[in-house]
Amino acid sequence: MAFIKNAILALAATASLTTAAVIAPREGVASNETTVASESRVSEKTGVSIMSAPQWYSGPWYNYPTNWLGWEDLWQRNDDMIRLTGSTWDDVGRINVAIWEASNQYSVDPRVILVIIMQESHGYVGVRTTYSYQGIPTAGLMQCSGCAGFPGQTNLPQEWTTEMIMGGTAHFRGNLDNWGGNGWEAWCVYPALREYNSGQVNWNDLSDPLGATPEYVSDVSQRLGGWYD
Ligand SMILES: *[C@@H]1O[C@H](CO)[C@@H](O)[C@H](O)[C@H]1NC(C)=O
Repeated sequence: MAFIKNAILALAATASLTTAAVIAPREGVASNETTVASESRVSEKTGVSIMSAPQWYSGPWYNYPTNWLGWEDLWQRNDDMIRLTGSTWDDVGRINVAIWEASNQYSVDPRVILVIIMQESHGYVGVRTTYSYQGIPTAGLMQCSGCAGFPGQTNLPQEWTTEMIMGGTAHFRGNLDNWGGNGWEAWCVYPALREYNSGQVNWNDLSDPLGATPEYVSDVSQRLGGWYD
C-alpha cells in the first residue's frame, strides 16, 4: 500500500506535467540524488520528470561507456533542459561560467561537472535541500553535504551560483583523490562518481548502490555520451 501511496504522491507532484508517465518509486532507497527511480521518475526536488538512461551498466569502470561528447555539444543538449526547471536564462549562463571556474580551480573536466549537476538537480538553482540515506543534508545544484542551497529562489547572483558549484566540485575533487586524482578520465571519474553518491565504493560493481542510487554511475556515464532528460 505504501507503494500506491507513493505513486499517488508522485503523480500529484507531476499534475502540471502533460507528459507524466506512470511513476514507480523505489522503496527503501534514499540518497542525496533522488529518492525515486524507475523507467520514469519525478525529481522530488525539481518536480521535473526524470527518465532513467536507456541502458543499464554495472561492473568495474571499464564496463561503462566512455564515448564522451565534446563540451559544446553536451552544453547545447542540456541548456534547454536547465531552463525548463525554472532557472532563468541568466541562471543558465551563470551555471556555465561557474562550471568553468570550478573546472579550473579543481582540475575536473567541465563535462563531468555539468552531468553531475544534471543528475543531481537538472540545473534548478532553487533546488531544495534533500537528505542522504544517512540523514545528512545535501544542498544546491550539486546536492552536496555542507554546500549552500537557495531553495525556491531563482535568478541568483553569480556569486551564489558559483558557491554551489565550487562546493560540489570541491567535494568531488576529494572523491577523485581517493581514486587516483584524475578528473578527466573515466578510470578515475567513474569510481569517484559512486563515492560522490554513496560515500563508499564497490570497485567491482560501480552500480552497487551501497545504500544510495544504483543507476547513478550508469546514468551519468550515459549523460557524458549525450543522453539527456
Ligand atoms: C551522499 O551521501 C553519502 C552517504 O551519506 C555521503 O557519504 C556523501 O558524501 C554524499 N555526497 C555528497 C556529494 O554530499
